[in-house]
Amino acid sequence: MEERLEKVLSCYDGKPFELIPILQDIQHEFGYLPEPEMREVAKFVGLPESNVYGVATFFEQFKFTPQGRNKVVVCRGTACHVRGAKRILEEFEEKLHIKEGETSEDLEYSLGTAACIGCCALAPCVMINDSVEAKLTLEKVSNLISKETADDI
Ligand code: FES
Repeated sequence: MEERLEKVLSCYDGKPFELIPILQDIQHEFGYLPEPEMREVAKFVGLPESNVYGVATFFEQFKFTPQGRNKVVVCRGTACHVRGAKRILEEFEEKLHIKEGETSEDLEYSLGTAACIGCCALAPCVMINDSVEAKLTLEKVSNLISKETADDI
């Protein structure tokens, strides 16, 4: 068993009700839920793999593919939509060379969307990691992604 998984599981007793916090800890440790770790978790909590996947796929927070170090989430809510969110998303796709829902090959960026990030008065908005960038323009998108990083992708 992978050492990092052993470390996570050592904090638990292997009870089925511990499944969600275990999955959260694994995602925190690995950045996503790798398939081998999911199999081990199923054995550890004594549930069929299908149940473990059933729980994990129910929650938006769990990812099944490696995620980028920088998470870009473009708001596609109504306020942002009417202020050009679609074009903002396309600009990020173009600059990062990935489509919505994808992660760059070098794992530098993941690009996603959200229904609303709670800053409608400042639309259009995007979250980059834990920061909200407001009143975005196409020019601001370019500035948010450093030229060297964008060129390296
Ligand atoms: S719709 Fe974009 S922040 Fe609310």
